[in-house]
Amino acid sequence: MGTGHAVPEKLLTNADLEKIVDTSDEWIKTRTGMEVRHIAEEGEKTSDFAAEATRRALEDAGLDAKDLDVIIVASVTGDMQFPSTACFVQDKLGAKQAAAFDIAAACSGFIYGLSLANGMIATGQAETVAVVGAELLSRITDYTDRSTCVLFGDGAGAVIVRKTDDPERGIIDTYLRSDGSLYELLYMPGGGTNVPFSHESVDKKLFYLRMEGREVFKYAVTAMGEAAELILKRNDLTGDDVDLLLPHQANLRIIDATARRVKIPPERVYVNIQKYGNTSAASIPIALDEARKEGRLQDGQLALMVAFGAGFTWGSALVRF
Ligand code: ACO
Repeated sequence: MGTGHAVPEKLLTNADLEKIVDTSDEWIKTRTGMEVRHIAEEGEKTSDFAAEATRRALEDAGLDAKDLDVIIVASVTGDMQFPSTACFVQDKLGAKQAAAFDIAAACSGFIYGLSLANGMIATGQAETVAVVGAELLSRITDYTDRSTCVLFGDGAGAVIVRKTDDPERGIIDTYLRSDGSLYELLYMPGGGTNVPFSHESVDKKLFYLRMEGREVFKYAVTAMGEAAELILKRNDLTGDDVDLLLPHQANLRIIDATARRVKIPPERVYVNIQKYGNTSAASIPIALDEARKEGRLQDGQLALMVAFGAGFTWGSALVRF
């Protein structure tokens, strides 16, 4: 029904990163496609951007916060361990009728949330659901580690999903998968019950994201390609039927490989990685909002969304707008 996004004003460019770690604009651009990211200022919270993105999505949908039955926030960088960031969003919006909860599926979180919203609506548990992807990855990024710090940005994107009787529109299908055996390729060791806060764990930098980039890259290419291919096949569709591919924006080379696998040409692939970096769960809803506002995805058109992230988790969604 509506889309919105909100990102911090402060920018971190490749040139800025050249001054922080041993890297270069050329390396970052050719290896990832990234040029600039938005980074939250001290005092800005994940829920600030999540709430603003949702407010904009509600406005776009012509709805009020009081219309929301459920708020789902996908995030691995919420305001606090608990309560959920969704509860802060509920309060900021004054969404008095809404249930609120978070889901943690890292970069695939938005697709997981969309699937959940679809299920809640289909089973009559809700009529109007906000699905939000919101991250402040800068808060768990080690800015002395060049292999990760150039990759991540902050921001939030939101969509409003609502019950419709129109058989031509809506969430056609979602596909979700996971493989927890590979978690050590992308994770944050500290902060949970496994490694609680202590002087020692802070000194050992256990509260920063860790990633084996090369390994993650290989799995991401395979899993995103598979998720895109499978969901099309089981709905008797091909890449030719897709008006716009909205892949998780982790690396331009992963995006290109995914598009090639389902034979979708570059002009039907949405890319904004150069402006935001990898914003994890926020990346697809930010892209979706921009694509809608730019007229790249119009009513009646078919969108294919595909994501891969920590867990590992991956998945895809087919949506007719
Ligand atoms: N600047 C300059 N050189 C660098 C940098 C940098 N920022 N980072 C690494 N290098 C060097 C390495 O040290 C290495 O040098 P060596 O050959 O002398 O050892 C060389 O560049 C190549 O490193 P690789 O890691 O092989 O580079 P690769 O081409 O794989 O690109 C990248 C790295 C961008 C991280 C890529 O692997 C990637 O995008 N991985 C997937 C990330 C992803 O999809 N994450 C999923 C979701 S994230 C989430 O869920 C939160």
